Amino acid sequence: MSGVRRIAVMGGSYGNLAALEACLADAAAQGADCRAFLGDSIGCCGHSNEVVAMIERGFDLFVAGNHERQAVLRSTSCGCGYSSAEDEKISCEAFELATAGLTEQARALLGTWPDSRIVEMEGGRVLLCHGSPGYTSEFLYEAELDDLRLEAWLDRFDVRGFVCTHSGLPFVRHLAGGRFVVNCGVVGKPDHDGDPAVHYAMVDLAGGEARIEIRRVTYDHDNWARTMEAAGISPVFIEPVRTGIWTTGIASLPASERFRWLRASPERRAGTASWQPRFLDGEAWKRTLADFRALGLVTDSEIEEALALLDPAFPFFAAMRMADSVHLHVKVEAVEDLPHERIEALGTRPENERPGYIKYPFPGGINLIFSSIPVAEEDQLGSAPRPKPFVDHYGIDLRRETGLVRALFEDSVSLARRAGWPGKPQGGAGRGVFCCHSVVAEKYWVYPPAEGSRWTRPLEFAYGPLQISQEMNGCDLRPIDPRHPEAGNAAACATAAH
Ligand SMILES: [Fe+2]
Ligand SMILES: [Fe+2]
Repeated sequence: MSGVRRIAVMGGSYGNLAALEACLADAAAQGADCRAFLGDSIGCCGHSNEVVAMIERGFDLFVAGNHERQAVLRSTSCGCGYSSAEDEKISCEAFELATAGLTEQARALLGTWPDSRIVEMEGGRVLLCHGSPGYTSEFLYEAELDDLRLEAWLDRFDVRGFVCTHSGLPFVRHLAGGRFVVNCGVVGKPDHDGDPAVHYAMVDLAGGEARIEIRRVTYDHDNWARTMEAAGISPVFIEPVRTGIWTTGIASLPASERFRWLRASPERRAGTASWQPRFLDGEAWKRTLADFRALGLVTDSEIEEALALLDPAFPFFAAMRMADSVHLHVKVEAVEDLPHERIEALGTRPENERPGYIKYPFPGGINLIFSSIPVAEEDQLGSAPRPKPFVDHYGIDLRRETGLVRALFEDSVSLARRAGWPGKPQGGAGRGVFCCHSVVAEKYWVYPPAEGSRWTRPLEFAYGPLQISQEMNGCDLRPIDPRHPEAGNAAACATAAH
């Protein structure tokens, strides 16, 4: 195709017929004289044969995405290339459903789409690709791209610009000499900004300068969400259609893109989003902690430290918004000698009780754990014990295995580094972290800066649901503060204990 003046470029329809139809109508109204589809026709919205037919009718140029390539290979993997294994898994589940009913005719058609192509426009040659010019499954995020890499790519293909899709996040980058790079976004889902509208790109080079626009297209997303429901599609894929906020794929986003929906989104402007933690209630914490102060089990400064976790000054404040609960792990001389009746009179029942260990949950997402068994690597050192009771650490429970919560857990690592809090991972990669007869998937420990901090105790981020077994699994000790003078020795004996 040559002599194109105004090209509409779309990608990632994922079976969303209603959105694709609205985008094609918008492109016609915008006077597009060519329409290119850059792949990922099928996916989480089902309706695979219908969407392939609509694309065949509606477009002039085609490029295969990872979904087309995998469908042609009859693979059950989506091949998205997410960095998070959970994101990849859920995307592959959707992909399997999308390909299950695909006709041989549709599959054969998808097999004819090339990995990339060049369109000769009035004003210059433009490369069309799916992920990046080099790799179908590469995610190109604007915040991570330097102009020199992009210019090298344009030189390699001898083109004025390239247009890609795949990541779902549209951008336009103007380069020196009137060159450009565009991610056209996707037409099948919103761009995680809290607005259900979808996107595609209009590129017009005819006048000399590159006139490029990311078109924002609204459609009847509520009606489409109901259509998806009627087709039996999982709510995890329907929610983003309604809210404009992704439920999956977030852990694989660069940190700079994870909170797009908390910037100036319609939800924010309407005042319906709140900084308040979703599952924690600071007022309830105050009442519970005052009761334990009266029992002589926590001090005023320990209470202050707990409440400061809900202060925006806490570097990990974002994680608190999605945390299920927080625990104070209090070391006592003897768990048997605690005033158990008076504690139960506060309106709780013990959970996970074991010799030398007990947990009391309270409303508002505050739990008190008391132990008299070794829980920290420091406990193995011969040094004089600290007078009990005292809070050994504060634990932040990120139990929900969603992309957003996972992202918050992972962010604690880079946040700690930037905020100057030493950190230490525990578990992960299939090995859980054991504590008596409970286990969580993964922990990340952070230690407040030595000076000028409102926090003095180690903090634990625990990711994944708490699983309880009847057997004792042994205990993984809390890692010692890496700045402790005897940190080397303590870590060595903790390893020997396993
Ligand atoms: Fe893709
Ligand atoms: Fe803990």
